[in-house]
Amino acid sequence: MEYINGKWRQKLHIEPPCGWMNDPNGLCYFGGRYHVYFQYSPDSAVGTGDRGWGHYESPDLLHWMYTGFVIRPDIQEDRSGAFSGSAVEHEGRLYIFYTGNVEEDGYDLIKEGRGANVIRVVTENGRDMGEKQVLLRNCDYPDFCSCHVRDPKVWNENGRWRMVLGARTLSDEGCVLYYSSSDLEHWTYDGCESAPDHGYMWECPDRFALGANQYLSLSPQGIPQQTERFQNTYHSGYFRADDGLSEFEEWDYGFDFYAPQTFLAPDGRRILIGWMGGGDQPYTNPTIELGWQHCLTLPRELVRSEDGQIVQQPVRELAELRGEKLSDTDPLPLPCEIYAKTQGNFCISLDGLQLSYADGLFRMEFTNESFGAGRTVRLVRIDECRDIRIIADMSSVEVYLDGGRRVMSTRLYPDGETLSAELSGITAEIYALNI
Ligand code: FRU
Repeated sequence: MEYINGKWRQKLHIEPPCGWMNDPNGLCYFGGRYHVYFQYSPDSAVGTGDRGWGHYESPDLLHWMYTGFVIRPDIQEDRSGAFSGSAVEHEGRLYIFYTGNVEEDGYDLIKEGRGANVIRVVTENGRDMGEKQVLLRNCDYPDFCSCHVRDPKVWNENGRWRMVLGARTLSDEGCVLYYSSSDLEHWTYDGCESAPDHGYMWECPDRFALGANQYLSLSPQGIPQQTERFQNTYHSGYFRADDGLSEFEEWDYGFDFYAPQTFLAPDGRRILIGWMGGGDQPYTNPTIELGWQHCLTLPRELVRSEDGQIVQQPVRELAELRGEKLSDTDPLPLPCEIYAKTQGNFCISLDGLQLSYADGLFRMEFTNESFGAGRTVRLVRIDECRDIRIIADMSSVEVYLDGGRRVMSTRLYPDGETLSAELSGITAEIYALNI
């Protein structure tokens, strides 16, 4: 396989060696290493062609090594794609669960003609996969489900294995299905959860505890767009899930974010990684002409704040990469980090991208069309913004506002390998990030 180098290739972010990447899958720490699998179509930068799982591993969450296209769609039950899923360690082996997608010609693929199989595969080393075993088929899901059921996330809770699946009901409502198991092989249906007015399909569910609270993360499709919320075509966020589902909060308000998944690091940190991309968006990525598209976000540490909201920060390991301090009058070499304490209104221009805060509203706005490849403006309301952290890579920016209470991610396409910065209303510390 070809490994592409050159323009806009990222230095901190995981991206496909060539071809197309979407959701992060099977995130885990196993065998002394971090593992990130991802939805991969190596033969096509626009995602046509075989879809399966690619694999990266890392000793430190900073340096990633690609090991291969490790799950290919090669049985009847996953012949239209080895779709998203998760991984858990059990007795020294890694158990991977994913959706085997099957599409038949001549059907609507919603109510008829789509197979959605939960498939299990076991690996000793994270790279070489054992035999595929089909655990659940369409007939194992409740009668109210359409054929859209997918993206198993498995975890252990008080000694019992649990699985959550995303689904679309026959009456076009998003929901999650819960299953449990004592042996990771036989699964019993335990019930479902949904919330009115939150879309027709829930993709990529993830259920976890943070502090004393339970959360359900989802990527719903079909929530109507609004001015200051739900600004993309599809959305990702989390419900508080202690007692039913309430208060859906978006993970990221930028242009490029979808289908995140979380996992536990060995030191107990809950870490989230999302796809820095999205489906059916009205903007594009000029890397398509270069043979590749999309990347993942940086790994982010999640912490529950006092009011129950989740705050996100890039993993603390990133600070190890800080090099020399730069001045904002220099063209900034990429990748770099900008950090500033803020009070009142401010504005940061990074070439054709303007980041400004005024009167409780933060704005991410492209002032140059080719720089944003069709991206325009995204907003987020934030009553008091006490600081801002920006991580800029070769073709992306992630912005963490007010200690990470709000986050915005976007791709951008500079001509060269630097950004010129102009700051008003703040003084920033700027560091080169050396990797
Ligand atoms: C989300 C998603 C998942 C599916 C995968 C296919 O982006 O649609 O629901 O498993 O992508 O690549």
